[in-house]
Amino acid sequence: MLNFDLNTLRAVWMHEHKVSMYDQTKLPFSLEIFTSETRAETCLAIKTMIVRGAGSIGAAAAFAMAQGALESHSVSDLEIARKAIEATRPTARDLFAAVERVFSKALISTQSAINEAIIVAEETALAGKKIGEYGNTLIRNGDGILTHCNAGWLALQGYGSALSPIFEAHKQGKTVFVYADETRPRSQGARLTAWELQQAGIPHSVIADNAAAHFMQHGKIQMLITGADRIAANGDTANKIGTLEKAIAAKFFGIPFYVAAPRSTFDFDTPTGIEIPIENRSEDELLFVEGQDVNGKLHKVRIVSPNSHAENPAFDVTPHSLITAYITEKGIFKPNELSIIR
Ligand code: MRU
Repeated sequence: MLNFDLNTLRAVWMHEHKVSMYDQTKLPFSLEIFTSETRAETCLAIKTMIVRGAGSIGAAAAFAMAQGALESHSVSDLEIARKAIEATRPTARDLFAAVERVFSKALISTQSAINEAIIVAEETALAGKKIGEYGNTLIRNGDGILTHCNAGWLALQGYGSALSPIFEAHKQGKTVFVYADETRPRSQGARLTAWELQQAGIPHSVIADNAAAHFMQHGKIQMLITGADRIAANGDTANKIGTLEKAIAAKFFGIPFYVAAPRSTFDFDTPTGIEIPIENRSEDELLFVEGQDVNGKLHKVRIVSPNSHAENPAFDVTPHSLITAYITEKGIFKPNELSIIR
C-alpha cells in the first residue's frame, strides 16, 4: 500500500551504495521495489524501463554514476562507467546532464560524486513541485485535460512534470477531469498515469490512443499537458511517440498545448528537433501485450499476426510552432522566450 504524499514519494533513491526504485514494469498490478547493487544493474534497470520517464532516468543515471565511482580505480574506469550509462537510453536529455554533473564530481572524490547524485535527484523532484505551482495557474475550474504517456511522480523523480499542475489544481480544490492516452506500445498512460491519478483521487478516463481528436472535437478537452524527453534550442520537443499527432490535432481545434519540463530537459546545444536522437526499441513491445486476467494472473500474449514485424520508435518530435508554452520550474515561457532560461 502506498502512502500518497507527493512531498515524500520518490521514484528512485540511494542508500548505502544501493539504488532502489519502484519497479515500473510491475505497476499497476503490483507495487514492488527493485534494488540494484552495482552500476551495471542500475544501467539495466534504466534500459529495461524498471525506471523510466526523463527525470527519473536522470536521477537513476546520477546514482549509477555514483555507483560507477564507487567501483572505479582510475579515471579510465570512470569514463567506461559514464559511457555505459549514456548508452542505456539516448533521447532523455536529463540522463546526460545528470551523468555529466556526477562524473565531474567523481574526478574529485567518490563521496562528492555520491553527494552530487543525491542533489541531482532531489533538485529534479523539487523542480516538479514548482512546475506544479506555475502550471496550476493555467488550469481553470472544470477543465478537461489531455495528457500522453506518464509524466507524474514516477517519471520525474517526484511530483511530476505534466501531472504536477494537475495534482496542484486538485489540491487547491479545482474540479478537473483528465483524459489519459493509453500510450501504446508500453501503455504508460493506461498503466501508470491512471494508477497515479487513482492514488491521488483525481477523476479520469483512459482513452484509446486514436481517440484524442474525437474528444477534442466534442469539446471535452480544454488543454493538453505533456512532459518532454529533450527540448531543442528552438523549442522543438521530443516526447513519447504519439505526442506529435496530439499536438497537430490540438492546433486544428485551437486548444492550447503545454509542455511541462524542468530546465535540465532543455538541450541548448541541439539547435532543432531534427538533431534529437530518437530511440528505437524492440519490436516485441508492439508484438506482445502484458496484462492481468480476472484471477489476478499476469500473461504476456502476442497480438500481431505471427509472421508480421513491427517498427518501434519510442519518441517523436513536436515542432515548437505547435506548442503554446513550456511550464518550467523557472516560470512559463512561450517558444520565442526560451533564451531567458538558456
Ligand atoms: O519511454 P518513457 O516511458 O521513459 O517515456 C517517457 C515520456 O515520454 C515522458 O513523457 C517524458 O519522459 C517526460 S516525464 C518526466
